[in-house]
Amino acid sequence: MNKGTFITFEGGEGSGKTSLIFNLKEHFESLGYTVMVTREPGGVKVAEDIREVIMSSEMDTMTEALLFASARREHLVERVLPALERGEIVLCDRFVHSSIVYQGMVKELGVKTVADINAFAIGDNMPDMTIIMDLDPQVGLNRISANSEREVNRWDLEKLDFHEKLRKSYQSLKTLFPEQNIVSIDATPSQNEVFDVAKSVVESFLNKQHHKVS
Ligand code: TYD
Repeated sequence: MNKGTFITFEGGEGSGKTSLIFNLKEHFESLGYTVMVTREPGGVKVAEDIREVIMSSEMDTMTEALLFASARREHLVERVLPALERGEIVLCDRFVHSSIVYQGMVKELGVKTVADINAFAIGDNMPDMTIIMDLDPQVGLNRISANSEREVNRWDLEKLDFHEKLRKSYQSLKTLFPEQNIVSIDATPSQNEVFDVAKSVVESFLNKQHHKVS
């Protein structure tokens, strides 16, 4: 049993995960928690190298899922688990549910196949809580094109129906995995409003867990 709290953030392109995570970090630090923000590959050399291979070319979906799982394990072992062991809150931008949705559902490799690959890679190190940012994909894509600083990846360039399928797949996770702590948040309102909702969701979870470290 880890001493810290592992929270992952999921959602389609332009759903505002990154800014939400940084706002939450600031907020919980001000309350005295130690917070680590990360995302795969998270500056872990081996995971960075694997990620570069994934991002550079189209490939067989099973190969892609296996590579994501390998990068995930390395990042988990090198960065996430040590932080949890130190009792920190870890806020991670994307984790296993991204593979289940992108490779398993949208690219149709199958939920069970992807869940099995990942169970092999990460064992029982599942998040304590997963926040899904739910947003109309057209709104998300408009946000991305308005943000010129954001790097465009090969997924961003997919057609709208890919992103629609992505959203529906994310929406199905809660029913598919009722035993997991999955919370869906409407990402349509302003950054501040979404932050307020996420803040109270996380706060009530932390209060239940009694993980305050100072
Ligand atoms: P990234 O630049 O991290 O995107 P974002 O800012 O949207 O998180 O690129 C990651 C892309 O890879 C993203 O489009 C989702 C996809 N992805 C998968 O297909 N499977 C996975 O397991 C993960 C972690 C990401």
